[in-house]
Amino acid sequence: MTNDFMEQANDKSPLTLLGLGAMGTALARTWLAAGYPLTVWNRTAARAEALAPEGAKVAASAAEAVAASELVVLCLLDDASIDATLDGVDLTGKDLVNLTTSTPEQGRARAEWARERGARFVDAGIMAVPPMIGVPEAGGYIFYSGSLELFDAHQEVLAVPVGTKYVGEDAGFAALYDVALLSSMYGMFGGITHALALIGKEDIAAKDLAPLLADWLNAMSSSVHLFAEQFDSGDQEGDSASNLAMQVAGIPTFRDTAAGQGISTELLDPYFDLMKRQLAQSRDANSTGGTVDLLRTR
Ligand SMILES: NC(=O)c1ccc[n+]([C@@H]2O[C@H](COP(=O)([O-])OP(=O)(O)OC[C@H]3O[C@@H](n4cnc5c(N)ncnc54)[C@H](OP(=O)(O)O)[C@@H]3O)[C@@H](O)[C@H]2O)c1
Repeated sequence: MTNDFMEQANDKSPLTLLGLGAMGTALARTWLAAGYPLTVWNRTAARAEALAPEGAKVAASAAEAVAASELVVLCLLDDASIDATLDGVDLTGKDLVNLTTSTPEQGRARAEWARERGARFVDAGIMAVPPMIGVPEAGGYIFYSGSLELFDAHQEVLAVPVGTKYVGEDAGFAALYDVALLSSMYGMFGGITHALALIGKEDIAAKDLAPLLADWLNAMSSSVHLFAEQFDSGDQEGDSASNLAMQVAGIPTFRDTAAGQGISTELLDPYFDLMKRQLAQSRDANSTGGTVDLLRTR
């Protein structure tokens, strides 16, 4: 190692990363490439040792890895694997950043768990897949919530792999934002699946429909803002250009077309049913955003 490189490395604050699966390994490589002193630990040691040639310091145990740095990043499979990894490990004075996917309740409980052990804590939700890590133009980022002091203190190092978005002191919010965005994605996947099923028996290549679908979904994505405005304001008038009664009147067209193509409408039916319930509540309602209220279970 040259003196120049050592000086550069010494400028950067050290960190520890526990968990070197696909995501953890991608994250580790960006910190190593940027010259951050990185201590790593993984349950299966071979995955940690694979990073040693790139400059990672391999700890023999999770406790040794945690002891090596103030900033400790977790990227494990699930909430239970955090207990399995950190049971009995001294966390006093540590800054814990949990990139492990969790529920809002798990994020809040983990914040309390960390506080009881003398550590500051932020939970996180990763809006990226491993190939997007270290590739700024790919647009990935990570939601963070919990201790603002911790986030401010380490924002520079946290921003190395992908962008950062801090969404509040409530440690459950990062997971909530994460699951909200991913849930909307599954709605979109359902729509794409239905569209491809519709053309499935015809002499239409899916790859020919794909660009049309992508452009249409892009054009319709601005509905997000309309729904949000209606939801925030409680506006029931909504968008009279595409009023709810007109949309409900169109439901048989979707059902009959699907039946004609020999496919089920099971992916669309729940949303159609909500639209009908919303219209039944108020004939004047134009706001499909109002259907949000119908989903409340408590
Ligand atoms: N990959 C993605 O596209 C993606 C995207 C967004 C968020 N995430 C989140 O990132 C986290 C890590 O994902 P990943 O893709 O890296 O998963 P992965 O490749 O399956 O790796 C899982 C990691 O967790 C460790 N682990 C599992 N059970 C454990 C236990 N009981 N005790 C200690 N360590 C345990 C594994 O260790 P071993 O090597 O010993 O098995 C491995 O390091 C997950 O919470 C995931 O939801 C992933």
